[in-house]
Amino acid sequence: MKKPVLLLLIAATQAFAAAPRELAQAYAAEASRQAPGFKASPQRGAEFYAKRFAVSDKMPACTACHTDSPARPGQHAVTGKAIKPLAPRAEAARFSDPAKVEKWFRRNCTEVLGRECSAAEKADFIAFVSEGL
Ligand code: HEC
Repeated sequence: MKKPVLLLLIAATQAFAAAPRELAQAYAAEASRQAPGFKASPQRGAEFYAKRFAVSDKMPACTACHTDSPARPGQHAVTGKAIKPLAPRAEAARFSDPAKVEKWFRRNCTEVLGRECSAAEKADFIAFVSEGL
C-alpha cells in the first residue's frame, strides 16, 4: 500500500520540487481511496499534532520535539539536537522532498504512535503545518 504512493510522488515530482500542497493532495487521494469523500482538515491535523499518544515516555507527542508551534524551531527530546521549524512558512524546504517526508513520517510516527501514520493523518498533518502558506 505504501510503496505505490511513494513511487507516484517521486514520479510526479521528478521534474520540479514538490510543493507541500501537492504532497498533501497525493496523501488525500490515497486516503479517499480508503474513505471516499475524505478531505484534509487543518483542524484535525492540529489535534493530531498536539495529541499525547503516550506510547513512549520521552516522545509522547509530535510536540515533544517540534514544540507547541510547527513554526518554531524545535529540539530533539532525547539528543537535544536543534530541529528547524516544520512549517514551510518558516522553513521553505519543508515538505518539498517526498522521500524525506516519508522517511521522517515513518520514523516519528512509529516512535510516537507505535505504528505508521495513515495517509489521512499525513494529509491532515501537512494541511495543518502548511496553514498560512
Ligand atoms: C524524538 C523527536 C521527534 C518527535 C517526537 C517527532 N519528530 Fe518529526 N522530526 C524529528 C527530526 C530529528 C526530524 C529531522 C530533522 C529535520 O528535518 O530538521 C524530523 C522531521 C520530520 C518531518 C520531515 C519534514 C520535512 O519535510 O523536512 C516530518 C514530516 C515529521 N518530522 C513529522 C513528525 C510527526 C507527524 C510527529 C508526531 C507523530 C513527529 N514528527 C514527532 C524529530 C521528531
